[in-house]
Order: sequence, then C-alpha cells, then structure tokens
Amino acid sequence: MIIAVDGPTASGKGTISKALAAHFGLPHLDTGLLYRAVGRQVFLDGGDPDDAGDALAATGFPGSLLADPHLRSEETGGLASRVSVHPSVRRALFERQRSFAEQRGGAVLDGRDIGTIIAPDADVKLFITASVEARAKRRWLEMQDRELDISLREIEADIAARDDRDINRADAPLRAAPGALVIDTSALDREAAIAAAIAAVEEAIH
Ligand code: DC
Repeated sequence: MIIAVDGPTASGKGTISKALAAHFGLPHLDTGLLYRAVGRQVFLDGGDPDDAGDALAATGFPGSLLADPHLRSEETGGLASRVSVHPSVRRALFERQRSFAEQRGGAVLDGRDIGTIIAPDADVKLFITASVEARAKRRWLEMQDRELDISLREIEADIAARDDRDINRADAPLRAAPGALVIDTSALDREAAIAAAIAAVEEAIH
C-alpha cells in the first residue's frame, strides 16, 4: 500500500506521516528532507539557490548530509523552497522518491507533489492543511522550546512566503491531488490529527 501525504509547511503532515507509517508498519520518506539537503548543500558550496545550475550541482549532496541538524532550520526550509522551483532539481530527485514508493510492501511518503507527481497511483492520498495562523503558532511554540528568539509575526510572514512560492511555482505546484482526502488540522491537537488520518486511511482501503 502506498500512502501519499501532501500539504504546506507546519500543517502536521510530517507527524501524521510518521504515525501512519508506525500504525500500518510501512517505511516512511520525508521528501522535504531531500530538498532541504539540496538547499543546505548550495549554501555550503557558496552557490545561489535561485540559479538552476548551482541548485542542480547540489543534488549530488553526500548521504551523510541527511543527518545534519541544520536541515531542520527555518533558513534551510527557505533555501529548500527556493531550489525546489527548478525543474532540473525536481527531475534529479524524482527517481529516488519513485523507487522508495515502489518498494515491495508499500510506503508512506510526505511532501508537496507525492499524490500528483511522485505516486499518482497511491492507494490513499491525503492532503493535510491548516490556517496560516495555526501553523505559525505551532512553529512558534516549537521555536520557544528550542529557545530560538523569533516573533510570531516573522514566522507568519515566512510561512506565507513559503506557501506562495510552493503554490505558485510552474513545476509540480503544491495542490491537493484529484481524489485526495483533505484534513484540516487547524482545530485538532496532535492525537486528534493522527486519529483522523488513520480513520481516513482505514476508510479508503476498506
Ligand atoms: O516539507 P518541508 O517544509 O521540509 O519542505 C521544504 C521545501 O521543499 C518546501 O518548501 C518545498 C520543497 N518540497 C517540494 O518542492 N516537494 C516535495 N515533495 C517536498 C518538499
């Protein structure tokens, strides 16, 4: 069984995907991490994330980079969003994601274009969303825990800019795949969001 989970940043799709993978005994790939690694590699190379050539060169990042804690930062998220607009970068990362999806027994993948491009044949497609305010609040609370000093307003602006870039890019823009089940997590806590996703998958496969 292939489960495709898409949605904007801080919607809860990562948490939900991990929980679905554990619940259904499937391997999980956070595809955003691949774009984050490319963004981070461009930075380490001193390149320009908006330049298609620099970004493509960075797709050859070493596997060890995937364990770099910097990948989780807001800065790297922004770089990832910028390198992800280049079609050549998306093509370079395609095969890795596709073969993960095709492995025997199935998989859970989360990202922006899983249900539309990477695994349009997925058995279940979920689109996880939430209001900008709810997502910014979550991100802000996470940052408070990590003692990072950033205002709620800055986070809201950053999330809105990321959404705008991800939704309006020409190649593989963020959108719900046809037939995707939309789950709005704005008013749900972690446990309720996970329960809603598990129920949606159960219903889709029975
Ligand atoms: O899910 P995330 O915040 O880690 O993703 C970081 C960026 O990577 C996101 O802003 C857009 C890009 N991305 C993408 O274009 N396609 C994917 N399947 C996953 C992420």
